[in-house]
Amino acid sequence: MTHEYTAPVPDLTTSEVPEPAAVTIVVPTYNESANVRELLHQITESVPGRLPCEVVFVDDSTDDTPQVIRDAAKDCPFPVTVLHRDEPVGGLGGAVVEGMKAAGSDWIVVMDGDCQHPPSLVPELVATGQRANAGLVVASRYIKGGSRAGLAGSYRVAVSRGATWLTKSLFPRRLHGISDPMSGFFAIRRSDITAEVLQPLGYKILLELAVRSRPRAVTEVPFVFQERFAGESKSTAVEGRRFLRHLAGLRTATPLARMVVFGLIGLTGFVPNLVALWALTHLGLHYLPAEIVANQFGVAWNFYLIEKVLFRDRRRHRHWADRTVRFALLANADLVLRIPLIALLVTHFGLSALPATALALVITFVLRFVGTEALVYLPRRTRRNRSRTA
Ligand code: GDD
Ligand code: MN
Repeated sequence: MTHEYTAPVPDLTTSEVPEPAAVTIVVPTYNESANVRELLHQITESVPGRLPCEVVFVDDSTDDTPQVIRDAAKDCPFPVTVLHRDEPVGGLGGAVVEGMKAAGSDWIVVMDGDCQHPPSLVPELVATGQRANAGLVVASRYIKGGSRAGLAGSYRVAVSRGATWLTKSLFPRRLHGISDPMSGFFAIRRSDITAEVLQPLGYKILLELAVRSRPRAVTEVPFVFQERFAGESKSTAVEGRRFLRHLAGLRTATPLARMVVFGLIGLTGFVPNLVALWALTHLGLHYLPAEIVANQFGVAWNFYLIEKVLFRDRRRHRHWADRTVRFALLANADLVLRIPLIALLVTHFGLSALPATALALVITFVLRFVGTEALVYLPRRTRRNRSRTA
């Protein structure tokens, strides 16, 4: 990573943060050479007169964006820093976290480099946070006074709505009070960021922060999402898939959540199991061997989903064939163990058949989850694994 400072540089070190507040504006950029001059111009017009500021660009460009920033910075009455990354680890979100680490002020505002986020709102975001004693202030398109005017096309609008709905339903508590968790425009206090627990992955850095850093209090300010000044959105289908992976990673961060997802996936496995059973018995197979074969269809289905959704980032230390065999053994051991366990509960503990069966189901399920996690996907939270998901 190269660090480039461009003059003029009024002193804005942490020890001298002026009262009541100052702000570091963090801007991720990827090939935005046609936008950054206009952005710095808009910031110059609307921020330093109301709030002392510095701007930190975190750039992953392959074009001349850093040079354009450096030239434009000469006309700015505030410090401008460009951190150019040689490796775009974590994409947009990774860039934002880098910028936050470099911030000199307690308040940090994150905004896009294409002028879709009006800089005139920056002082208001910080002032609102100060007044409400909040840790996070979200600029929202979905509260009164806000709009997504600049979101191009009904397709993008529908995708954005769907993603917002899905995300809010997955994190009802953590995102309580955040109407626009997909927003890329927000103010956050540096003291509320727990950089060490963050695992940014792509565009939704606000979601990452809200879920993993859990800032003390959240408030919102409406804003109108503008048209892009120049160029095109960098968001692609690849980014969409990355978002789904990000959601899955966030949602399965605790063992309890993983067990719930494991159970839900297990439930969906009944469908291929029963379909196969129906087909096999119709083909004339005796129902007992049919049960055993059909069960393998359910196992295969579960294995596929678990690999794709639940333990996606924990597969690499074991060969896929090794994982397959282990998973299949555990899944079938579950079946084999259940009957003797039921018998044990009935004869030794005096339970009747129904509660014994229910209890055995629960016990074997928990054992299978614990076994699968420990024997197939033993978590290895290493630095290397994390950066490989970038
Ligand atoms: N450093 C870095 N690295 N910056 C990136 C990268 C990357 O890999 N990818 C994109 N950016 C920068 C862009 O250059 C731009 O400044 C900003 O991130 C947003 O990218 P856009 O491509 O303009 O995103 P968008 O307009 O489609 O999406 C924006 O609005 C969405 C809401 O509809 C973003 O703010 C999203 O986060 C937001 O969800
Ligand atoms: Mn944009």
